[in-house]
Amino acid sequence: MLLEKIKNLKKSALSDLEKVFDEKSFRDFELKYFARKTGLLTKILRGLSGLSIEEKKKIGKFSNEIKREIEELMKKKKKEIEYLSLKKKLKKEKIDLTLPGQEKEIGSLHPLSTVQREIEDIFLQMGFQILTGPEMESEYYNFEALNIPSYHPARDMQDTFYMEEEGTVLRTHTSPVQIRAMQDYGAPLKAIVPGRVFRYEATDASHDNTFYQIEGLMIDKEINLANLKAIMQEVLNRIFKKEVKLRFRPGYFPFVEPGLELDLGCLICEGKGCSVCKQSGWVEFMGAGMIHPNVLKAGKINPKKWQGFAFGFGLTRLVMMKYGINDIRLLSGGNLNFLKQFN
Ligand code: PHE
Repeated sequence: MLLEKIKNLKKSALSDLEKVFDEKSFRDFELKYFARKTGLLTKILRGLSGLSIEEKKKIGKFSNEIKREIEELMKKKKKEIEYLSLKKKLKKEKIDLTLPGQEKEIGSLHPLSTVQREIEDIFLQMGFQILTGPEMESEYYNFEALNIPSYHPARDMQDTFYMEEEGTVLRTHTSPVQIRAMQDYGAPLKAIVPGRVFRYEATDASHDNTFYQIEGLMIDKEINLANLKAIMQEVLNRIFKKEVKLRFRPGYFPFVEPGLELDLGCLICEGKGCSVCKQSGWVEFMGAGMIHPNVLKAGKINPKKWQGFAFGFGLTRLVMMKYGINDIRLLSGGNLNFLKQFN
């Protein structure tokens, strides 16, 4: 009778355990059979105390075996439930690697920087050093040392930003760094100076109050204008990636003697004549000349022993020519739609 009851209990326990699928149903099962007072199995085991020793032994052993068997199956079940819940959790946390990511915008060099670096590379390969100087400059370096007399129009308030501090200006060209370079390094000397310059000017499509120049100078015992021409031909061919036409004509700058201007064969019309070159086939490119003896002296270099050329051109202008940009203001405007074209 009791044996029968225990066997049935085992059967129902096993079938109940089959149906357990999560932590809650597991706990319910545990309570139903093993709760301290009300558990079905607990109650049977307790009831054994009223039996004879003979029966106690027999049934006790039997029910203990069943108990152990059920507990063994419960352990397995528990592992199964843990595994299932982990699987569910992982499924929820899964990362979909095929979803589109968030795009990061990557910046790029300003066209002025790109071309400046290109030019620096070319001159570096020719053995020039690259120098810089202050943007806020003394009148002495910007004018006097460069042999620019006080009556020269460049001294006019119309062209120059004079600072409140007496004798100080925003440099109007990169030429003052010629003097600084000579003082710092002496002769022989080969250097270029890229830098920002300032003119007190109303802005329009071809004028800005701030723009970039590249100065150059080469001083040695026998440097002459043929060297300048050869170097500029090579540099400009490489910048424009084709054979460009050059022309020298006389020009006046107080810090060179003789002074000259270098023109480029118009790159737009190839010399035939267009609106950019004003039908002449040539565009002004830079000022240059043999460094004036007074300028060498200001740079503490003996003009009887050394001579050299100097040149200065507008980097901003060059960039406009290279890329066909028709308004100088675009280059300082920070308009991304414009700048992205040069990526
Ligand atoms: N500094 C001159 C300018 O700004 C250019 C120049 C440089 C001319 C060197 C001759 C020699 O126009």
